Amino acid sequence: MDVLGAGTSSMELIAGDKELEALNIQLNDPTQLAAYKGPLDTYRPHLLPRVFGSFLVFCGNLVYGREPSYLKFRAVEIIARVPYHSWSSAAFTLLTLFFSNEKKALRLSNVARYSRIASDNETMHVVVISQLARKEVKAGYVRHTLVPMLFAFFYFWASYWMYLIRPRWSYELNYLFESHAFAQYDRFLELHDEELRHKAVESDFLAWYGRTPIHQYDFFRSVRNDEIVHRNQSIHDIDEEADLRRIRLLKRIALFVVGVLLVLVAAAVLLV
Ligand SMILES: [Fe+2]
Ligand SMILES: [Fe+2]
Repeated sequence: MDVLGAGTSSMELIAGDKELEALNIQLNDPTQLAAYKGPLDTYRPHLLPRVFGSFLVFCGNLVYGREPSYLKFRAVEIIARVPYHSWSSAAFTLLTLFFSNEKKALRLSNVARYSRIASDNETMHVVVISQLARKEVKAGYVRHTLVPMLFAFFYFWASYWMYLIRPRWSYELNYLFESHAFAQYDRFLELHDEELRHKAVESDFLAWYGRTPIHQYDFFRSVRNDEIVHRNQSIHDIDEEADLRRIRLLKRIALFVVGVLLVLVAAAVLLV
């Protein structure tokens, strides 16, 4: 798959993507992981995504604790699918408005296609992790299902509107969320290294996806690698030109609305 460009080959992708799976395996090597991760470690998002991102991480730590756990991952993965779905929905909305602009239509279709691949990947995470969590500990409905669903609802609309107003903000919010997810999985591997190597992972969903980890350490390392790919891809997908065009368009719309309102007020004053 050509993640960045227009030359993607398959119309419908239902399982693991071959190119991303190959990258995932490469990232098992600490040297390759450091080289892939390092250049974007110091990336600084804008204020608005930083405020939203800090709020999400703060609430997550408050409700599920600072340290990683099966149930914290379950909640994280319920929420993690949402930005990709919001981008796909926003691309659909924008295509309704700009279908006659072929260049824009192509770009938005690539956004929708990558979003589908990434949301399938996050779906695999939440399905498999919820099965693993079930074997470890009982999950209360309110704390472990209702609360993450409310977070997901909030996150969807924040991400959707940010994408419509300024896509960069939405990508940067995802960068922060995925950075947190990567750090949590990395810490989990560090804390439970030996233990995870003695735990099996059996899942029909994972087999359908195309992954065959030999134990849970192998599985969680692959999820950690997915998150750093999602983090980096969020920044690679930022199109500064498109962002600036969107801002110019919104300014023109705002000026038009203000102009119409002023005319209406003036007409009302003259008629009174
Ligand atoms: Fe995930
Ligand atoms: Fe992710």
